[in-house]
Amino acid sequence: MDLRFFVFVFIFSVYFICDFPGIYGERNDEDMTIKTMEEFSGYPIHEPDYANSLSSLSVNSDTLQKQIDELATFSDSLAPSVTRILYSEKDVLARRYIKDLMKLSGLSVREDAVGNIFGRWNGDEPELAPVSTGSHVDAIPYSGKYDGVVGVLGAIEAINVLKRSGFKPKRSLEVIMFTSEEPTRFGISCLGSRLLAGIVQLAEQLKSTKDSHNVSFSDAAKSAGYANAKGDLSEVFLKEGTYSAFVELHIEQGPILEKEGVSIGVVTAIAAPASIKVTFEGNGGHAGAALMPERNDAGLAAAELALAVEKHVLDSGSVDTVGTVGILTLHPGAINSIPSMAHLEIDTRDIDESRRNLVIEKIHQSALGIAKKRKVILSEFEIVNQDPPAPSDESITKATESACQELNLTHKKMISRAYHDSLFMARVSPMGMIFIPCYKGYSHKPEEFSSVDDIANGVKVLALTLAKLSLS
Ligand code: GLV
Ligand code: MN
Ligand code: MN
Repeated sequence: MDLRFFVFVFIFSVYFICDFPGIYGERNDEDMTIKTMEEFSGYPIHEPDYANSLSSLSVNSDTLQKQIDELATFSDSLAPSVTRILYSEKDVLARRYIKDLMKLSGLSVREDAVGNIFGRWNGDEPELAPVSTGSHVDAIPYSGKYDGVVGVLGAIEAINVLKRSGFKPKRSLEVIMFTSEEPTRFGISCLGSRLLAGIVQLAEQLKSTKDSHNVSFSDAAKSAGYANAKGDLSEVFLKEGTYSAFVELHIEQGPILEKEGVSIGVVTAIAAPASIKVTFEGNGGHAGAALMPERNDAGLAAAELALAVEKHVLDSGSVDTVGTVGILTLHPGAINSIPSMAHLEIDTRDIDESRRNLVIEKIHQSALGIAKKRKVILSEFEIVNQDPPAPSDESITKATESACQELNLTHKKMISRAYHDSLFMARVSPMGMIFIPCYKGYSHKPEEFSSVDDIANGVKVLALTLAKLSLS
């Protein structure tokens, strides 16, 4: 075992032995050797400052909770909800907040052309590929304050925990705050991490992408201080082997850990997400005067397709297949006007990629059939993204599992039904994720909640996982 890691684990153990007396029974061989040597010589082999190590190794939970609360105030909707859309004024404030915290933790901070933010702690061997961790702080409309945020503020605190413990990383450690994990503004999820993964087609597409207010991606980025987003975005792509590992801490966003009373979820794979845009066009007209047999109601076509999505998803027969029509807009949007245009955005996912693809195909067939039957035009059926699932890397799941064991925290392996930046980091780095419980599994709504103790457990597991990976 590397000497630095040994010393680190020893100090870490002192803290947790004090915290969890039950761990005494699980002392490892090294501990027993030290004990024997101490008994033989009559002198302590190491003289840790117990009082100091107790406080220095603990997560600063109060501060972390205050930071989570403070970050939640950068929102375009009223508390307890959080709305923080890419490159908005509140997003820029949140970015500044994160960069300041990174600097306070002694990290060297840089940003790329689209605003992915990187904070690095140089290791003893800075020429080695660093270990990275992180998540996002953008928030969909009327959501909560923990999604993504726990994985960014928690990562910075994990660095603080390691620094306070006296740990010296061999590989550098890097915290990443990804740009726009949520697809809210430009309809593209995990925008920053997709670019880091080197998706050429996206770099091209962003040159002409506009939001619903007709603001181009590059103008929006410029307004947030990222003027270079106008140019060649391939400069954002990560080179092969940039990181030796990437690990993301996140709330589960599902009910399993809380229900089963388990502290930590060790993610083995992330489900395959897809999203589709559909538009139907009809004739519109007067809601009173146009007779029912004469209508080509685009709204009703959309309604019928929404029900078809539900049917095709349920027909898969697996609880892992899900589908949601999260956006349905009607034009012109007047109570006394037959919709002449209807636009739907459909999200469908599965851990089984081919089963998810079959659902997409069935949705397409339904859209064609409904358009024919209702005499409306299917003017758009665009599969915006159709991503494969991503498996975690065993070296990372193993490191996380042994971190949980050393910290005496219950854990279980599980899949992630939500997508994360990890889905794309897995394309350029070995990837792993750490889940913590959240209240009733609520997420993407204001009731989202994780207790500060659960968050602190996640931070400890992340800190120890990073330490292990940094020395490997
Ligand atoms: C992430 O926000 C997701 O929708 O899974
Ligand atoms: Mn989310
Ligand atoms: Mn998230």
